Amino acid sequence: MIKARIIGTGHYLPERVLTNNDLEHLMDTTDEWIRQRTGILQRHIAADNEAASDLAAHASQNAMKSASISAEEIDFVICATLTPDYFMPSSGCLVQHKIGAKRAGACDINAACSGFIYGLQQADALIRAGVHKTILVAGSEIMTSRLDWTKRDTAVLFGDGSGAVVLRADNGDSGVITTYTASDGGGHDILMVPAGGSAQAITPENINELNRGILMNGRELYKRAVYAFGDAVEQALKRANVRVDEIDLFVPHQANKRIIAAACERIGLPEEKIFLNLDQVANTSAASIPIALDQACAQGRIREGSLVLLAAFGAGLTWGSAVIRW
Ligand SMILES: CC(C)(COP(=O)(O)OP(=O)(O)OC[C@H]1O[C@@H](n2cnc3c(N)ncnc32)[C@H](O)[C@@H]1OP(=O)(O)O)[C@@H](O)C(=O)NCCC(=O)NCCS
Repeated sequence: MIKARIIGTGHYLPERVLTNNDLEHLMDTTDEWIRQRTGILQRHIAADNEAASDLAAHASQNAMKSASISAEEIDFVICATLTPDYFMPSSGCLVQHKIGAKRAGACDINAACSGFIYGLQQADALIRAGVHKTILVAGSEIMTSRLDWTKRDTAVLFGDGSGAVVLRADNGDSGVITTYTASDGGGHDILMVPAGGSAQAITPENINELNRGILMNGRELYKRAVYAFGDAVEQALKRANVRVDEIDLFVPHQANKRIIAAACERIGLPEEKIFLNLDQVANTSAASIPIALDQACAQGRIREGSLVLLAAFGAGLTWGSAVIRW
């Protein structure tokens, strides 16, 4: 049976780092508040001349190198992002061009912070259906382009970065075992960027009134996230027919340490099996899981044969999960 196997991973974080202490000088917040409520210590910030496709191109090149493939071998590029370079064309097309994937189709997926899982699911299905052999899935975000730096409730949570994986059709035991996606648009206003789209178009008259930054009901989102994370994990384990103690490493979307801890307690996953990097990178939305995957591989926490569980939640609301045999 054909499986979609991850044959390479890569990531890229912009050079500039903004610490919690730096934020203390920009707004009414403290390192202690951010640390205690979220687990975040610092975040990377893209340079003025970097767009989402630039970060994704770097991450993708690293993933291709780790997979030992050339860009011409890629059949399709999926870029998961909620901060694309433009409304059109897609950042996927720009990544395709920047890495020289001359034969590839390309598109974006917007499922907010669950975007990488959604992209992975589509890549897995396309490969298993025999439509494509080699697919690049990147998650890339310049979240700081959507932040209102006068709003401390959201400005402290997010960071910029990109991660990518190369998936290839394989007949062996390794590969994506299952994926799960879910959504509830009834919760669309819990986390959103209200203005700038077709619902609230920006005009010269309203440009100063509209809320073009991220709007979030933090407390409500927290509750919904704990539920969604739990559901995502339970569904993935059930569909993959594996027990929680068989999981070697859980790589969750890095939004908030407390949310991850609550979900892990619910399913009985010990702390040493959780991969966390949000202290260093904060919430990089769709980029968070592929960045973490690449770092986990580099640190030897994912090896050939490892059983890896992924789970994410985000705006939409969306959530999802995957189980992968490395
Ligand atoms: C945002 C979040 C960390 C806030 O933590 P919380 O314990 O719920 O905090 P509250 O919203 O109850 O706010 C507590 C107080 O801290 C204040 N506060 C908010 N942001 C602050 C900041 N950056 N620094 C200092 N104080 C802050 C609030 O104004 C509030 O003050 P008040 O009680 O005087 O009104 C938490 O709700 C959360 O993690 N939600 C989910 C966010 C998330 O994961 N988003 C991305 C999803 S992909």
